Parts: sequence; C-alpha cells; structure tokens
Amino acid sequence: MAKDSFIKLENVYKVFGPQAHGRPLDLARAGLSKDDVMSQSGHVVGLNNVNFGVERGEIFVVMGLSGSGKSTALRSVNKLLKITHGNVWIDGVDVQTLKGRDLQAFRREKMGMVFQHFALFPHRSVRDNVSYGLKVQKAPKSSRNKATEEALSLVGLEAYIDSMPSELSGGMQQRVGLARALASNPDILLMDEAFSALDPLIRRQMQDEMIDIHETLKKTILFITHDLNEALRIGHRVCIMKDGAVVQIGTPEEILTQPATGYVAEFVQDVDQGRVIEVGDVMSEPSPLSEKMTLTQAVNKLGRRTGEFIVSEDGIPTGLLMAADAMRTAKVGTTSLAPAVRRDFEHTTSDTRLNDVYALAGRGLPIAVLDDSGKLIGTLYPRMIMEKMGEVEQLIDDFEREEFL
Ligand SMILES: Nc1ncnc2c1ncn2[C@@H]1O[C@H](COP(=O)(O)OP(=O)(O)OP(=O)(O)O)[C@@H](O)[C@H]1O
Ligand SMILES: [Mg+2]
Repeated sequence: MAKDSFIKLENVYKVFGPQAHGRPLDLARAGLSKDDVMSQSGHVVGLNNVNFGVERGEIFVVMGLSGSGKSTALRSVNKLLKITHGNVWIDGVDVQTLKGRDLQAFRREKMGMVFQHFALFPHRSVRDNVSYGLKVQKAPKSSRNKATEEALSLVGLEAYIDSMPSELSGGMQQRVGLARALASNPDILLMDEAFSALDPLIRRQMQDEMIDIHETLKKTILFITHDLNEALRIGHRVCIMKDGAVVQIGTPEEILTQPATGYVAEFVQDVDQGRVIEVGDVMSEPSPLSEKMTLTQAVNKLGRRTGEFIVSEDGIPTGLLMAADAMRTAKVGTTSLAPAVRRDFEHTTSDTRLNDVYALAGRGLPIAVLDDSGKLIGTLYPRMIMEKMGEVEQLIDDFEREEFL
C-alpha cells in the first residue's frame, strides 16, 4: 500500500467491551476470528486488523453484510469512535490523536458526512439546513448564502431553498443532506448507507448524480453500503468486509472476475456482470487493415481472426472485412479489397457496459470501439463478451465445488 494514501487505516482493531484493551485485543491480534474472540472473552470485535488506503479523488466503497464492521470503519475515520489499536491517517494527520477543538476543526474543514437517515432539522428551511455547518464555522452571511445556493444547485434543488424538509420526498431530503455535506467544500465525503433508504429507481438516480458531482468536484468519497450492485456501480475500488476483517480490495472488475474467496464469489453470483464490465475490459487491440491493401494482403494480415476493421490514414474505421466475405469474394476471382468490405458496422466506446452492447453484438459481427475523435482503439468480438461472462460463471462454479468437497 502506498505510504501516503490520503486516508489510511493501518492495522486497525476495534474491540467493544469493558476490557477491550486486555485479553480480547491480544486474542484478536494473535489472529483469532471475531467468533473465537467472542466465545473466549465475551467481547465483540468490530474491526479486526483492517488495512486500506483511499487515494485522493477516489470513490472507495466498503461493502459487507450487517455487522461486518463498515460503520465502525467509517467512524474510525472521523473519530466518532476511538479505536483500540492501530492508526488512522488523513493527509498525514494521525486522526485518533486529535481531541476537542482540534478534532472539531479538523472534521469541519476536512469532511462532510451523509447518513442513511437524512438527519435534517425538521423545523428549519432547506437553506438553514444546508448552511448550518457554515454558520457554526461563523462564515460571513454573504459567503454562506453563496455556498448554500451553489451546493443546492449541484443537487438540482435550488428552487426549494425556502421549503421545509417535510415538503420534500425522501430522495429530495437526501439531496439536501448531500448539499449540506458539500456546502463547506470539504476534501472528503463520508457516506454511510446514504442511499439505502430510497426506492430502487430514486436510488439509481442518486448514484448517477453522485457520480456526476464527483466528476465535477473530484472529492475523495468513502462510501458504505451493504449492496454489492451499488458498490460495483459507483466504486473505483471496493473493499469487502466480513466479521470485522477485510476480505478483498479491488476494482469492480477484479472483484467480479477474480473473487478472492468463496465468500466473495457467492456475493458476485447475484450481480448482473454485464452491468459492471466495460467494453474496454474485453475488447482486443486492433490490428487494422488499410484500404490500400489487395484482397490477398488483407486476408494475410487478418490471419486467424474472424474479421477486422479497415481504417483511413488518420485511424478512422471505414469498413469491416470478415474472413468469410473475403473468401467468397476471392472465389469469384476478385483481387481488390473493396467488394468484400462491409460498410455498415456497429461502433461503441470503451466505457460502455457490456449490457449496452448486447443488442449490437447480436448480429455476430465485430464492433468498432472508438475514442472521442472517432479513431479505432479496439475491436470487440461478440465471442469475447460471451467468454468473459462464461469465465465469471466458471469461477463461481469452481468455488462452489471447492466448498462442496
Ligand atoms: N457501540 C457498540 N457496542 C458494542 N458493539 C458494537 C457497537 N457498535 C458496533 N458494534 C458491533 O460491531 C460490529 C460491527 O458493527 P457495525 O455497525 O460497524 O456494522 P455494519 O457493517 O455497519 O452493519 P450495518 O450494515 O448493520 O450497519 C457488530 O458486531 C456490532 O454489533
Ligand atoms: Mg452500519
């Protein structure tokens, strides 16, 4: 792990109970599981040797079942909880050593928090709720108003500035909660099950909006959820916890395609892979043909591939040569390339999700993957999509077999 991650948990243990620092901690540090520490000492291990680093500007998601230690991990970062052992660093500051005013000032300046239950003041307007933190910080009224309006416009609620929370839907209230966290312009957003109380549709909208806001503001986000779909959808990296310990940390694709344990694989089984894996993960490096080639030259370059794109001098695809078409054309004695080339081909971008190219792949032809300027950067063969999905299913089968034996 990089020594200077923006947020860093290092060998962190949290034991709940009267003698937390004594034998229960020793047992946990000796490598005993949460259950074993419980049965031998009657103490609950909330965090069991947790290590992870969150990079500046990253969306880092901690995911796990109820009781796995997610909230405890998050609370160690803002020191709502005192840890039993280890260190928590933010930007080089040993957070757990901060106290009183220093701690308050550090929290206020560095982090905004968003929780599952929106925790708005019911008798104050949206404006007062959002500007509350700035008021506590004694920011002058003009800058307070400006920051409040800006934060509300980020979440699309500027028109509701004078409304009361009770006049808003759940999704809107959570937007106010997000605006409140953003108003003081903190480096870090701590979000604990922030969208979990929302209806699925509103929840997805909020996820999309959060991703958009992140694109604009590039905050560092530590996001907690028990929903793997949500984790894989919004996380740059996902940390999976079980019984207070970290089971795996990886990109969504790594979690899906290389689950570290049967436990992770079991979770992964319920995920719609195509919603997570992107075209860029599956496409192959193009080795394009040129319009200037003869049919024979093109077929030679094609080799064993079923087809490949033809590009202009500036890299823009102009056609698709399929091996089968080339053969058919050559059989009738044609030597030029053009008659064998298809001009109606499908194209996509590397960050498109596999689910969204399924329909295009249905024709059985390669799909051109283009960059912003329309240049060919990859060739996506329908077979690769199927193989990728098959690979994931195979992995899960293997784990299940292992556990069965
Ligand atoms: N104040 C406390 N006193 C005693 N035990 C606690 C306390 N807070 C948490 N725990 C225990 O620590 C473990 C981790 O709890 P935590 O709240 O971090 O889980 P979580 O992953 O956030 O779960 P959830 O999805 O239900 O919010 C649990 O076993 C819980 O019972
Ligand atoms: Mg929790």
